[in-house]
Amino acid sequence: MKTTISQVHKYVGEKVTIGAWLANKRSSGKIAFLQLRDGTGFMQGVVVKADVDEEAFTLAKNITQESSLYVTGTIVEDSRSPFGYEMQVSSLELIHEAVDYPITPKEHGPEFLMDHRHLWLRSKKQHAIMKVRNEIIRATYEFFNTHGYTKIDPPILTGSSAEGSTELFHTKYFDEDAYLSQSGQLYMEAAAMAFGKVFSFGPTFRAEKSKTRRHLIEFWMIEPEMAFMDHNDSLEVQEQYVSHVVQSVLENCKLELQILERDTSKLESIQAPFPRITYDDAVKLLKEKGFDDIEWGEDFGAPHETAIAESYEKPVFITHYPLDIKAFYMQPDPERPDVALCADLIAPEGYGEIIGGSERINDLELMEQRYEEHGLTGDAYQWYLELRKYGSVPHSGFGLGLERTVAWIAGVEHVRETIPFPRLLNRLYP
Ligand code: 4AD
Ligand code: MG
Repeated sequence: MKTTISQVHKYVGEKVTIGAWLANKRSSGKIAFLQLRDGTGFMQGVVVKADVDEEAFTLAKNITQESSLYVTGTIVEDSRSPFGYEMQVSSLELIHEAVDYPITPKEHGPEFLMDHRHLWLRSKKQHAIMKVRNEIIRATYEFFNTHGYTKIDPPILTGSSAEGSTELFHTKYFDEDAYLSQSGQLYMEAAAMAFGKVFSFGPTFRAEKSKTRRHLIEFWMIEPEMAFMDHNDSLEVQEQYVSHVVQSVLENCKLELQILERDTSKLESIQAPFPRITYDDAVKLLKEKGFDDIEWGEDFGAPHETAIAESYEKPVFITHYPLDIKAFYMQPDPERPDVALCADLIAPEGYGEIIGGSERINDLELMEQRYEEHGLTGDAYQWYLELRKYGSVPHSGFGLGLERTVAWIAGVEHVRETIPFPRLLNRLYP
């Protein structure tokens, strides 16, 4: 019976065969412990000299790290392993011998590991992080599908910029100029006028010369957009969505969180509603905390966000930022037009901004005025204005950065480990 490690609980006491790689190995004179991995999980195979033929025991003792093999044996419960099962091996068949696998169980530096990312992905910790990422994606589709949203895919190649022109990747589109998408938002607004509530999930690109633990050049964003919803309605969607994602990971990634040594007590309290603080009050709070460098009207940096987040156990919304430091499309607060109806959601424990969102301007004249102030001319933006000409309605939306969310929930220091093949300032390889 051929099966996988993730399914062995169904075969306790039975003999099964698993296709696997050798992750690690320990052996003494009469016994060999093989740490097996098959992509679905990790499991120990125990090879006892007296129970197998001589050839199989020789293979078990000499097999090299990352060689591939078929292992056959009986599944038994093992209360000492976090996985709960192991295999008493009865026979082994080598598929391919790996020679001098570069990532040994000893410590390696981050640059070496990043150079070998195509192999590093096989390690237990990286495997756990990608499984958490996968669960966040699954829970995202579940949340939006059960709340009446339609998934809409915005284009990657665009003629316009959604988040300002300085961080655009330029390319040629035959004879025209084109850019890689920074955000699908403008297209999602068009989609919201056609489908009501929509969400996207796709890659976005920022030519940012930032080399921090929170910045990727290519990252994945989830962008919901909702017709007939104002700023406050949007915050409620955000806190419910993020709570659902965190609780789903807690429920479905127990082993992974254990491998990652994540303090899950910090995640258990992540339930809606989330606290809210205005930008004005956040500036005051920072000054109280001794940040003399921040003045009203300036954007917050990572240390500021971390200091604000420290006052809360849950993610915190910072709302009503100065209009001048935010994107052209944000709705000014009618009661106070120098601030926008917007919010950033800051994750706890220093993981920084995971969501940026706002109510969008729905008045044609005001949008035209903002275009002028931001120097947005040319055909590339005309269609976006037209959305305000034909049945314009209040609408809001937001973008959640997947990798920063994975970093927070998995408890991973740097976003480079939260995406299979990170694109960083100085890295396009592998
Ligand atoms: O705050 P941002 O720039 O917002 C937008 O792009 C909006 N158009 C979204 C919308 O309203 N539909 O980006 C949204 C999120 C950030 O909060 C952050 O989590 C993530 O995207 N992000 C990055 N993640 C990794 N590396 C980068 N360079 C990132 N830039 C933004
Ligand atoms: Mg932002």
